[in-house]
Amino acid sequence: MGNCFNSSSAKVDATLSSRTSGISRSVSSMTISTEISSIGSISTSRSEGEISSSPKVKPLSFVELKNATRNFRSDGLLGEGGFGYVFKGWIDEFTHLASKPGNGIAIAVKKLKPEGFQGHKEWLTEVTYLGQLHHPNLVKLIGYCSEGHNRLLVYEYMPKGSLENHLFRKGPQPLPWATRLKVAIGAARGLAFLHDAKDQIIYRDFKASNILLDVDFNAKLSDFGLAKAGPTGDKTHVSTQVMGTHGYAAPEYVATGRLTSKSDVYSFGVVLLELLSGRRAVDKEKTGIEQDLVEWTTPYLGDKRKLFRIMDTRLEGQYPQKSAYTTATLASQCLNKEPKARPRMSEILASLEDLQDANRVSKDHRMVSIPVPNSPVGHRQRRSTPSASPFPTPRQSTTKVR
Ligand SMILES: Nc1ncnc2c1ncn2[C@@H]1O[C@H](COP(=O)(O)OP(=O)(O)OP(=O)(O)O)[C@@H](O)[C@H]1O
Ligand SMILES: [Mg+2]
Repeated sequence: MGNCFNSSSAKVDATLSSRTSGISRSVSSMTISTEISSIGSISTSRSEGEISSSPKVKPLSFVELKNATRNFRSDGLLGEGGFGYVFKGWIDEFTHLASKPGNGIAIAVKKLKPEGFQGHKEWLTEVTYLGQLHHPNLVKLIGYCSEGHNRLLVYEYMPKGSLENHLFRKGPQPLPWATRLKVAIGAARGLAFLHDAKDQIIYRDFKASNILLDVDFNAKLSDFGLAKAGPTGDKTHVSTQVMGTHGYAAPEYVATGRLTSKSDVYSFGVVLLELLSGRRAVDKEKTGIEQDLVEWTTPYLGDKRKLFRIMDTRLEGQYPQKSAYTTATLASQCLNKEPKARPRMSEILASLEDLQDANRVSKDHRMVSIPVPNSPVGHRQRRSTPSASPFPTPRQSTTKVR
């Protein structure tokens, strides 16, 4: 797996200047315990003491993590993000003590840069949320470390790395269409779980680099540092400082700071575009309109005959036309300028699952390709497909913001 030193996405952060000082060196476990109980409703029932005594999330010593990663060796570097560097390491499954490479379980250790963009607050939010949330489509937090000024997070190791690595890096085999759909479904399940929880959670940082993949390409969401409790009572939104990543953050949220679960839905739409096109949300290496994936693709999403123009050429035409078109329609609904008109994640998930079922049933029929002149990929699918909206028509416009 490659690293991501050249990530082109930049964080949107209206509060940057007040947060770049990094972590407070005087933060003690006692402070952390108090802070944990103040982050959103999910955490009020727990303290750090309870989290540490949970068999699921452990406080781990810095020395142990240093040994587990062989002193944070550069050849074990998995990637770099706003929080810091991520290293591969090994620990004993039961004692959680450092073990030799190949023994025990593999872990990914994220080490906060003291001068890092994301600071103690995000570290704490992540420990709080991931410490308490368990779902097959959320990455598992094994432990954390808070010693002096060191802040680390220890996750299950995800052998296939991030979706970003697969979609945008040269080298690895391009992801086949069926795998892209599988990844979208896994990620949608993760988001639907958060949005439909009794105490709703808005993820706020949905993007390709935060979708991690296990050995079978099951997707899991990582990075809960920006997660936020959803609106409660009769509130329609939460007002927050604008945080997230350029290219993925919903325009109305960036403009007003009003956050809803539909902000995540917008980001999901952007990732669907990335899966279709194999291009980044924002690509500074392109020129003009093509720098902005949403702007560039929008005119093609609703046109079955033109959609191929934005499809990932690495797919070499090997995708069912209907599946791509339905996904494009879904993306454009997620990207609706009016947040209330965007579908809910549970609806999106159901549509994607239907699509996957349909693909499985009729795969053999529809994957037969014929050459098409003027097509950059040289192929199109033999069968034409009916106009495909993934939703029963009126549903989306009546969807309420929770
Ligand atoms: N649990 C993990 N298993 C395997 N690789 C991981 C794991 N967590 C992170 N990585 C790798 O490290 C990279 C950096 O992750 P990180 O979350 O720090 O940054 P990012 O997502 O690229 O950016 P940001 O900080 O804005 O979220 C990921 O893209 C991925 O390749
Ligand atoms: Mg990340």
